[in-house]
Amino acid sequence: MERTLVADAPKLIGQYIKLAGWVNSRRDHGKLIFIDLRDRSGIIQMVVIPDKESAYKNAKDLRSEFVIEVEGLVKERPGGASKENLATGGIEIEAGKINILNESKTLPFEIAESTSKIHEDLRLKYRYLDLRSERMRNNIIMRGKVVKFIRDFYTEKGFTEIETPILTKGTPEGAREFIVPSRLHNGKFYVLPQSPQQFKQLLMVAGIEKYFQIAKCFRDEDQRGDRQPEFTQLDMEVSFPQGDEIIDLYEKCLIALIEKYFPEKKITKVPFPRIDYKESMEKYGNDKPDMRENKNDPNELAFCWVLNFPLFEKNKEGQLTSSHHPFTAPLDEDVDLLEKDSDKVRAQAYDIALNGYEIGGGSIRIHKRDLQHKIFEILGLDEKTIQDRFGHILEAFEYGTPPHGGIASGLDRLVSILMNEPNIREVMAFPKTGEAEDLMMGAPSEMNKEQLSEVRIVVIKKPKVK
Ligand code: AMO
Repeated sequence: MERTLVADAPKLIGQYIKLAGWVNSRRDHGKLIFIDLRDRSGIIQMVVIPDKESAYKNAKDLRSEFVIEVEGLVKERPGGASKENLATGGIEIEAGKINILNESKTLPFEIAESTSKIHEDLRLKYRYLDLRSERMRNNIIMRGKVVKFIRDFYTEKGFTEIETPILTKGTPEGAREFIVPSRLHNGKFYVLPQSPQQFKQLLMVAGIEKYFQIAKCFRDEDQRGDRQPEFTQLDMEVSFPQGDEIIDLYEKCLIALIEKYFPEKKITKVPFPRIDYKESMEKYGNDKPDMRENKNDPNELAFCWVLNFPLFEKNKEGQLTSSHHPFTAPLDEDVDLLEKDSDKVRAQAYDIALNGYEIGGGSIRIHKRDLQHKIFEILGLDEKTIQDRFGHILEAFEYGTPPHGGIASGLDRLVSILMNEPNIREVMAFPKTGEAEDLMMGAPSEMNKEQLSEVRIVVIKKPKVK
């Protein structure tokens, strides 16, 4: 007999079916034993009666989270006993056969509908158990649907999904980078990408014209609720962008996504409001304004675009840095200010904010070699550094680079807001802690001597403070 999913059982009243899953709970009511069986589609009640001897004997041995296979009759629940709030509440399975496929130790915490009250370190150490809870399972399933929706959306609009390398060279986007020692090239290192920024621009040089990727990005920065050392972006890039094509398209994608999967949500304003960076800072005191009309309404979504960011900003040491990244183009009318009045130059950059969180950012890029070179100089890089770090992209710009631009949106942030979760860890299957540790796998971890000597690395331990 083929396995049936719990969610399909209500359509099969009167039939004998086979189910498989986990014991969610077991209640011994004297003669009758009730078992809630859980699989990926839901929970269903089984009743075991003493007449079915072997099933009854096995049911006596069952404990929470045992893995079982059950054959039984789908029956309407006797009047009054039906639970309307459960999808399978109108029915139950009268078990004929129970086969124990595997046992389980007592769990470190209970798999309730939501585990949000359990200490997070414990949840992260046993993430595979935490993911059995209904809330977490739902978050991960919805995330998968969001990703699939975005993939289909951009694919239908003529974009090609392309994977770019993970072992690469640094790309300056403001965060510290993770480095990976090379075994074959002693003393040399790969860098994990903060984003596919340079590759996607090089794909425009390559004539791809419309690229997107669900891209893993890596940034070694201090953690917060909306930041992880490794996270996922919807990343895209377009050649010959027409008007506001890039932001219009992402706006359409978000609206369609919400209509399909989050119909209970209402978007405060469509089209999304567009506000100048300067106005945003003056009016809201930040560059990701929260434009909700009622901040207590969990179903309100207030998107807004923030435009015309300054091209440069000064870091703590007073040095000029790019506000976004050095590939962003200045506004045409501000190009003349580049050398003398650099802090007045505005960028062709845009961010998208949702309920006070930055969920994306992008820009029209520089596509002329000389302007790109000039920006590196203004940023204080000497010729050798420019060549070492960016020689490849400057060279590429000499071979017929089209005008281009793009955007990247933080999927973890987007999904966490859509799912009303307080932080992005709740919508990631295997996130890291606030200290950037994976408590389940035990990463980061020490390497043994052989592994270190292969890559010719000597670890100098921090002296212990006495
Ligand atoms: P940016 O650095 O603004 O742009 O990143 C785009 C979006 O990625 C999300 N994000 C993060 N999410 C979780 N954890 C993090 N540590 C983290 N850092 C960023 C945010 C952010 O808005 N290459 C450019 C895009 C472009 O110009 O096309 C880039 O990465 O939601």
